[in-house]
Amino acid sequence: MTDKKGGMWRGLTSYGDENFALYLRKAFIKAMGYSDDALSRPVIGITNTFSAYNACHANVPQIVEAVKRGVMLAGGMPMEFPTISLHESFAYPTSMYLRNLMSMDTEEMMRGLPMDACVLIGGCDKTVPAQLMAAASADIPSIQVVTGPMLSGTHGEERIGACTDCRRFWGEYRGGRIDEEEINEIEGRLVPTAGTCGVMGTASTMACMAEALGMMLPGGATIPAVAADRLRHAEASGARAMELAEEQIRPSDIITSPAIANALCVLLAVGGSTNGIVHMAAIAGRLGIRLDLESLDAMGMETPVLVDLKPNGDYYMDDFHKAGGMAALFRELEPLLNLDCQTITGRTLGEEIEALPRAFVQQVVRPMDDPVHSGGGIAFLKGNLAGDGAIIKQSACSENLLVHSGRAVVFDSLEDLAQRIDDPDLDVAKEDILVLRNAGPKGAPGMPESGYIPIPKKLAAEGIKDMVRISDCRMSGTAFGTIVLHSEPEAAVGGPLAFVESGDIIKLDVPNRRLTLDITNDEFERRRVAWEPPERLHADRGYRKLFLDTVTQANEGVDFDFLTKRPFTAKTP
Ligand code: FES
Repeated sequence: MTDKKGGMWRGLTSYGDENFALYLRKAFIKAMGYSDDALSRPVIGITNTFSAYNACHANVPQIVEAVKRGVMLAGGMPMEFPTISLHESFAYPTSMYLRNLMSMDTEEMMRGLPMDACVLIGGCDKTVPAQLMAAASADIPSIQVVTGPMLSGTHGEERIGACTDCRRFWGEYRGGRIDEEEINEIEGRLVPTAGTCGVMGTASTMACMAEALGMMLPGGATIPAVAADRLRHAEASGARAMELAEEQIRPSDIITSPAIANALCVLLAVGGSTNGIVHMAAIAGRLGIRLDLESLDAMGMETPVLVDLKPNGDYYMDDFHKAGGMAALFRELEPLLNLDCQTITGRTLGEEIEALPRAFVQQVVRPMDDPVHSGGGIAFLKGNLAGDGAIIKQSACSENLLVHSGRAVVFDSLEDLAQRIDDPDLDVAKEDILVLRNAGPKGAPGMPESGYIPIPKKLAAEGIKDMVRISDCRMSGTAFGTIVLHSEPEAAVGGPLAFVESGDIIKLDVPNRRLTLDITNDEFERRRVAWEPPERLHADRGYRKLFLDTVTQANEGVDFDFLTKRPFTAKTP
């Protein structure tokens, strides 16, 4: 039973008479058949992010039922409530544009509805970040459950899975190496089950980071969406939410600077999505913690990529799970982790690692002395074209392009790119460097995942699979290639990409962390003074105006400035 402050007593509507507010609330909710006994229990909110538009969340109804079962077995009252649900392929202009809206929706519902703790059910790329941002701000005891990865499928003799293979096959189709009939067949096989992308894309990266952060029960990151264990994990999460409500362990107790460092260490070790950095900057920003990109670069130097998953390696998420999942990774990474961090289990990460199931021989998680990639999966670049720090996922780059100079071929916007990239008359050669600008947080708007600029069709037809590409936008975590991202400030607000002209020479030197435009300082300054902002930076009303007026750059998480906690009082890693 809950006391006068908990359960249905929480957040009473303001009528100036608390007892009347409770009486009215109970009168209405009783229309749904609840008894006084049920209404006197602690209340556990459960976010229902099912949507007919979101295949990555197709199993949410079953997960909700399992969470409810866990809550009720522990003596509580589960209350599911809907929030915005975002799928990568069903969000115009981009899911990133709507992530902050989802975080605001979730935060305000967590505050506005009575609940003693909350179970957050997310999965697709932007949903888990939005929920963790919301939980950090609302600071109500919370536990993260993910929908889990899809199983891999087959095409002929080949194993395939969204979405690294989506891009690979599309590149083959653009290059004329597979025909219309085959690409249609592949389209029907790439996503064989419900669940999130089956490679180390953003969804898988965020799931692993959420577990490392301590916001998820151990083992939850990798269980396939369609496995029975996924539902048992959900049931256990519901039961644990009841204990969290009692113990009042809050997100601010869990999401500390050292815990965020653990999550970033895992991001590097899984060869995770660059988007994970942007999202973690936003989550940290909600608690007044600044992500220090230079320290993260240094951390990368000593954190090898250990997980052999696409797009960096060979395997899929179902293989990672069979290989032991995060338990196998934590065992290897232990010397690099902050073991004293508290998790939502009530124990420290170190205590959880001590209690891990026994190790066994497997191929997916490599030992520290035999990594998939050493020397940092993600590098931070400096130089006159990197601005405040552009990034490159070097573990997904072509080795021969890590040090490269070439002639810039500039696209002024996404529209310009779409119009000209396949033009047979485009002046481009395989040694050139493709530049896309005005595609950042404000410029696009919404910082789309367009950094994986397609290889111009005429070069793709010659078999060219990779070129150096630079932009102020993001890239899907499932993509691969020698791709520089997040050049900031973005071009639309006068960042360095705004001053590149087609024909300029650009030099990329990843080992030395340099990205430079080979013009004199005087010429750079002349172009800067002559620059005029593009017209697109304006909206009169609505969410678009809020977005354009308040969105921050990638290093602050592309969050809205008024949602972050200022001033920063700590930094990480
Ligand atoms: Fe949802 Fe990839 S599209 S996780």
